[in-house]
Amino acid sequence: MRTRPLKVALLGCGVVGSEVARIMTTHADDLAARIGAPVELAGVAVRRPSKVREGIDPALITTDATALVKRGDIDVVVEVIGGIEPARGLITTAFEHGASVVSANKALLAQDGAALHAAAEANDKDLYYEAAVAGAIPLIRPLRESLAGDKVNRVLGIVNGTTNFILDKMDSTGAGYQEALDEATALGYAEADPTADVEGFDAAAKAAILAGIAFHTRVRLDDVYREGMTEVTAADFASAKEMGCTIKLLAICERAEDGQSVTARVHPAMIPLTHPLASVRGAYNAVFVESDASGQLMFYGPGAGGAPTASAVLGDLVAVCRNRLSGATGPGESAYAALPVSPMGDVVTRYHISLDVADKPGVLAQVATVFAEHGVSIDTVRQQGKDGEASLVVVTHRASDAALVGTVEALRKLDTVRGVASIMRVEGE
Ligand SMILES: NC(=O)c1ccc[n+]([C@@H]2O[C@H](COP(=O)([O-])OP(=O)(O)OC[C@H]3O[C@@H](n4cnc5c(N)ncnc54)[C@H](OP(=O)(O)O)[C@@H]3O)[C@@H](O)[C@H]2O)c1
Repeated sequence: MRTRPLKVALLGCGVVGSEVARIMTTHADDLAARIGAPVELAGVAVRRPSKVREGIDPALITTDATALVKRGDIDVVVEVIGGIEPARGLITTAFEHGASVVSANKALLAQDGAALHAAAEANDKDLYYEAAVAGAIPLIRPLRESLAGDKVNRVLGIVNGTTNFILDKMDSTGAGYQEALDEATALGYAEADPTADVEGFDAAAKAAILAGIAFHTRVRLDDVYREGMTEVTAADFASAKEMGCTIKLLAICERAEDGQSVTARVHPAMIPLTHPLASVRGAYNAVFVESDASGQLMFYGPGAGGAPTASAVLGDLVAVCRNRLSGATGPGESAYAALPVSPMGDVVTRYHISLDVADKPGVLAQVATVFAEHGVSIDTVRQQGKDGEASLVVVTHRASDAALVGTVEALRKLDTVRGVASIMRVEGE
C-alpha cells in the first residue's frame, strides 16, 4: 500500500459534509485498505468558521474555498455546498488545478452537467455524483456502468422522500395535503420552505440526470415537464382506491416507441397497488428501471439524510481515489445518442378525469362525444348523482397528452360540465 496519502478537500460541512468527514475519520483504515493508500482530509471550506464542528480539526476549517481548491496538492474535491454558485466555479477551478471531483449537487448537475463533464474531460479528471440522485441508493453507477451493455427504455421513480412521506400519510390516514405537510415539517421531513420538494423541482433535477444517463443523451432541467403535488386531495386518494391504485409523485423518463426521442416528466400519478413502487412507504425512494435484456429492475432505499447520502459520496470517493492511483479516469458523459427530448404533448399514457356535471339525461353522451372527437378512447365511466349535480369519473385508454388537453378544454366549454375536479395520469400498467 502507498503510504503517501491522497488529499481530499471538503467543500461544505453541513448535513452531508459533516457525515462525510466523520466516516472518513472513523473508517480511515478500511478506506485506505480498499483504495490502496490512506486518504487525508486536507481542508474543509464552510461559510461560518466559528461554528463548532465535532471531530474536525479547527486548523482545517477555511472560508476561502477558492484558495483551497487552487492549492495544487488536492487529489479529490468533495463538493457538498449545494446550489449553483459558488459550487460551479469551485468545481471548474478544481479540475483546472489537478483535482477530480465528487459532488452531491443535483441542481447543478441537472442545469450544467454537460459543461462540467466537458471541464472534467478537458483536464483528464473524474466527475462522480452518485449522491445527487436518490441519496444512498446506487443508481448512477448501475445505469452508467452495470447497464452499459443493455438498452434502457424506461425509468420510473419515487425520487423525493418529502413528497412520498406526505402522499403516504394522505393515503394511510385520509389526511388532506396541508395536514400531511404539517406533520412532515414537524418530523423534519419537510423544510420550512418546502417549494423545491412539493412543486417537483427537486425531482425534476433528478429526472434530468437519470434520463441523460439512461438514454445516453443530454437532458437539461428545462426539458423536464413538471407538476407539483400540492393539489392532490383526499378525494383523489378515494378515487385511486376505488381503482385499486395509490398516488405517488413520479419521475418518469421514457424512450419513445420508435426509439427516436425521449421524454422526461415529474407529476403525481395513480399507480396500481400491485406495482412495486406502490409499496414504497414513508420517506423512502425507489427507482424502477426497464431495459431490453435485463427486464425490470428495482432500486430501493433511503433517498436523503446525512449518513445515507455520505455513503454514496464515500463510494464515489473510493472509486475516484482508485482511478487516481491507477492513472485512469472513470466513465465520463455518454451523450452520443443525441436524442431530442419531446414535449409533454407527445407523452402517451392513461388518464383519470373527475368532472362535476349536471345530473340530467344526455350529459354522459355529450361527454363521451367530446372524448371521441379528440381521439381519446374511454375505458370506464362511473357516475354518481345527487340533488341535480353529479360527478362523472372517466378513465381513458392510452392517449397523447395533447389529445387529453384538447379534450379537457372542450369539456370545460360544455354547459353541462360545471367543472373539472381533477385530472390524474395513470402509470405503471
Ligand atoms: N441533505 C440531504 O439529505 C441530501 C441528500 C442528497 C443530496 N444532497 C445534496 O448535498 C449537498 C449538500 O446538502 P446539505 O444538506 O449537506 O446542505 P447544508 O446542510 O445546508 O450544508 C451546506 C454546507 O455548505 C457550506 N457553505 C455554504 N455556502 C458556502 C460557501 N459559499 N463557501 C463554503 N461553504 C459554504 C455551509 O457552511 P456552514 O456550515 O458554515 O453554514 C454548510 O457547511 C446539496 O447539493 C444537496 O442537494 C443532500
